[in-house]
Amino acid sequence: MTMLAVTLRRNRRSSIMTFLLVLLLLGASAATRAAEFVGGPYLCHPRMDGMTVGWVADAAQAGEVEYGETEAYGKKAAITLCDQIVLATNVSSRRSACRVRLRGLTPGVTYHYKVSGHGMNGEKTGQFRIPPRTDPLLIVFQGDEYAITDLDVQFVEERVGRPVDLLVDVGDTIQHGRAFYDFKPQLYRRIPIVTAKGNHDSDWSDKLASLHHFDYEGRTEIKPEQVVDYGAARWIVGPYVKYSDDFTREQLTWIEDQLKNTDQAWKFYVCHHIFFSDGYHSTLRWGNPPEGQLRRRTVWPLFMKYNLRIAFNGHDHVYQRTFPIDQDGNKTPEGTVNLDPSIGNSARAQQSPWMARFQRSGDDRANRVKGVTYLYLKGAQGQVEFHTRPQENARLEDFKLLDRFTFSPTRFNPDALVPPETPGGAEQARTPQP
Ligand SMILES: [Fe+2]
Repeated sequence: MTMLAVTLRRNRRSSIMTFLLVLLLLGASAATRAAEFVGGPYLCHPRMDGMTVGWVADAAQAGEVEYGETEAYGKKAAITLCDQIVLATNVSSRRSACRVRLRGLTPGVTYHYKVSGHGMNGEKTGQFRIPPRTDPLLIVFQGDEYAITDLDVQFVEERVGRPVDLLVDVGDTIQHGRAFYDFKPQLYRRIPIVTAKGNHDSDWSDKLASLHHFDYEGRTEIKPEQVVDYGAARWIVGPYVKYSDDFTREQLTWIEDQLKNTDQAWKFYVCHHIFFSDGYHSTLRWGNPPEGQLRRRTVWPLFMKYNLRIAFNGHDHVYQRTFPIDQDGNKTPEGTVNLDPSIGNSARAQQSPWMARFQRSGDDRANRVKGVTYLYLKGAQGQVEFHTRPQENARLEDFKLLDRFTFSPTRFNPDALVPPETPGGAEQARTPQP
């Protein structure tokens, strides 16, 4: 009996010891578990002297960046900001978006970078080059549910014959495409992104969601507007004004200041909610008066006065491009073009006389298309092209030119003032004339 009691006591002590040991091992394993890459790296907040490298990991505060002018790197930078990602309203995840700000960079230099170490398993590399102001500049676009693909970028780069410098996002790509946070496409590693807030994107002030992950040091203001001078162009990312609302006087003053106080010859405006639309979202669904009708009367004269040639928008889930027009929609070579590059499958609600090209993805139900829009600036010549491709299993040879126009910083060429040619063989043979 006594022997049995001793054995039981020993067994109990041994069980407790084993349990404590397991706890200790589990704790140590959690503490030393290396974080895994979920997505990225991605480049954001591009400026002439700085760039942010971001990535998504399954743990916070993991990783750091080595960078330099060769693949030997030489410099090291620590995490500037790291936030938990929210994939849907009030649904948090284990994912974290971490960013490192690289400062004191020189335009024209190709920088190589590597994300690794500091608790991160494996490594991811990339490179970028900030274009000098005198260099040509090549920009691609995405918006709404359409996130640009590596194939789209490859097509544009082969067509123009140079690397893409910048990706401009007209809003809502992130919340419409939750997988956006996977950042799997290679293009994000070398092409910095500039984003405009959409109605599905949260505010800058919301540290847990969307646009905040393109921030790099905790902006305190809640306004999404910003000015990006990058290479030969100034991008005015406008204040967020939704649906049929008008600008406030303060917002108009801010916009005019950004148009006026620059010596950049090329200026472009980007915001999510469109000014001139034939799309269902803007004209019928939420607009009373139709979206943009109030805003274009106040801002369009400013665009024309300060030689802003194109305003880029999204929200309608279609490609739609106006002729160069004044605030009333009258064609003029000194006008401004309104362009929504975010091709999707929304409907057309009206046929405005100022609309030069309208294309949705599903006009042919059996052969749905997506597409890519690029803007190429070289010297005093600007050029926009829009090409469609099959939505699924596209190949480089499948891209078809559907819209094209050219312009200078001060006026449009005649090709912008006539309806674009019907897509066909002859048009495909045309080469870019940058
Ligand atoms: Fe939208």
